[in-house]
Amino acid sequence: MGESVDAQQQETMLLLTPYKMGNFNLSHRLVMPPMTRQRSWNNIPQPHAALYYSQRATKGGLIITEATVISEAGRGYQDTPGIWSKEQVEAWKPIVDAVHAKGGFIFCQIWHVGRASTYEYQPNGQAPISSTSNVLKPQLQANADEAAKFSPPRRLRTDEIPQIVNQYRLAARNAMEAGFDGVEIHGAHGYLLDQFMKDHINDRTDQYGGSLQNRCRFALEVVEAVASEIGADRVGLRLSPYADYLDSGDSDPTALGIYMAESLNKCGILYCHMVEPRMKLAEESFETTESLLPMRKAFKGTFIVAGGYDKDDGNKAVAENRTDLVAFGRLFLSNPDLPKRFEVNAPLTKHNRNTYCLPDPVVGYTDYPFLEDTA
Ligand SMILES: Cc1cc2nc3c(=O)[nH]c(=O)nc-3n(C[C@H](O)[C@H](O)[C@H](O)COP(=O)(O)O)c2cc1C
Repeated sequence: MGESVDAQQQETMLLLTPYKMGNFNLSHRLVMPPMTRQRSWNNIPQPHAALYYSQRATKGGLIITEATVISEAGRGYQDTPGIWSKEQVEAWKPIVDAVHAKGGFIFCQIWHVGRASTYEYQPNGQAPISSTSNVLKPQLQANADEAAKFSPPRRLRTDEIPQIVNQYRLAARNAMEAGFDGVEIHGAHGYLLDQFMKDHINDRTDQYGGSLQNRCRFALEVVEAVASEIGADRVGLRLSPYADYLDSGDSDPTALGIYMAESLNKCGILYCHMVEPRMKLAEESFETTESLLPMRKAFKGTFIVAGGYDKDDGNKAVAENRTDLVAFGRLFLSNPDLPKRFEVNAPLTKHNRNTYCLPDPVVGYTDYPFLEDTA
């Protein structure tokens, strides 16, 4: 009995031990992963985001922002923040400063939704872009009676791809201008880059379709462009090879994950952030025998795992060297002082799905209690 408590405490300590991620001296291994909250009116980050992120900032802790759109055409949801305009860059500055004031690090997740969009979000009501012209079928939504509907996309021409790569590059440059410590390229969950990587979606016949190498080309060009713009030591990539979210399945996710991990080594980027195979859809956890271990072994930089982790599970992953860092999404959303709660073994507040994306500056956002409030 006593021994198992000791063992447990030992593991608790592991998640709370320091880790050097490139030039960043992290004081613990908990990461706040990107979470879309849809409270950036007209795509402009708002002052309430400074409070939200600073509540979750710790000295030496890593936060990754909600997905942040790189261009007008990259949008697919109401009130998600952007980073393509001067006004947006200025609006991000106080948010970044608030996290830095607490000694935290903050990366910006840069995003293009591709075909997960509708005419109404597109400049001049044009068709959303993708690897394909096949429309995304309506998707059931967690908190709504009606399924989300999408407009038929336009397949990007081969000669247009460099322009989109450049938009990622400019977004990364803007993120540096806003003061971010780095960027995370969103290559997960069925959005634009994933629409190229996954063979259930990509039906191209040019050099960006067909073989695994061809399907991964676009994402790797984006990684290289962003790394050459801001330095590979400030760049992470998020991938979800096993996920089927937004119909983004692949016939061989393990091969895809390993190929990407190995290719990223050539670019020397800072980290690879992978979503666990058990997270096939956005939030539900499924039983699976698949694991991220082959990708963890293949990738030479910092590895971050995400999806369905709790304290014990996260500690175990670090203890078994299956990862360097562990992301806690919903737990961070509803527990602003999560590292502290782990440290003192305090109870956790449950998240409320109904208020994830409420268009309100406070409710379900900055009003989750701290330990002192509940004591
Ligand atoms: C409200 C909400 C919004 C999310 N938005 C994003 C996002 O913008 N970008 C992204 O890559 N993942 C997003 N995710 C996925 C999370 O980053 C994370 O991978 C997922 O919640 C599983 O981890 P968890 O079990 O620790 O919550 C979101 C999840 C939630 C709950």
